[in-house]
Amino acid sequence: MKKITIAIDGHSSTGKSTAAKQLAKKLNYIYVDTGAMYRAVSYFVLQNRLIENGQVKENELTDHLEDIKIRFENNPDSKNADVYLNNVNIEKEIRTLEVSNIVSRVAEISAVRKKLVQQQQAMGVEKGIVMDGRDIGSVVFPDAELKVFMTAAPEVRATRRYDELIERGDDITFDEVLKNVLERDRIDSSREDSPLIQTEDALLLDTSKMSREAQLEQLEQWARERI
Ligand code: C5P
Repeated sequence: MKKITIAIDGHSSTGKSTAAKQLAKKLNYIYVDTGAMYRAVSYFVLQNRLIENGQVKENELTDHLEDIKIRFENNPDSKNADVYLNNVNIEKEIRTLEVSNIVSRVAEISAVRKKLVQQQQAMGVEKGIVMDGRDIGSVVFPDAELKVFMTAAPEVRATRRYDELIERGDDITFDEVLKNVLERDRIDSSREDSPLIQTEDALLLDTSKMSREAQLEQLEQWARERI
């Protein structure tokens, strides 16, 4: 069977990662969560105080990019790949609202994007990959055989993310989560470098009223039609 590249982009908290991960498992493909990579750089920014009054110190961060080594490693307990920053597992740390609140600012920086896009393209050279993010179909793999753009109503997305964070024990309100989801969409869609767009050749998947099972079924059908 031929191996293909699957690019899944879309708005924040649409269930992209969960669906992409499940799809990769079904197809026996590699799964890469590129949001985790931008989150890892953002965690580095917080750790090294490279942000002041909401403004990322772009020059200093650019000078430090060589010191940022991101990799994924399978976690046998969760059966997922955890993200590592300079050999430290930061999977839990990158999912906080503190990181979510700055990640779109970090992701606007072209030097950051260039570094991560190169790494992502290298991970996909042999195909057989499902990658999710914001610019996968438009920039990372413009020739992907399957491109999907996922979206859902903002309230639905915020509810899903809120439930996840509460389950983890985070102390947050629904309004904070909704504000973050909308603000990230706004910044991601309006930035100059690689804005979030639905490319002409991407199939739209609106998950507002779809169960996780139905989402996976649709994605798998689209994938199998192309394999
Ligand atoms: O996918 P996730 O919500 O974890 O992504 C976090 C943030 O990382 C996004 O809001 C966006 O600013 C940035 N991102 C990006 N390009 C990608 C993946 C994520 O700019 N390919």
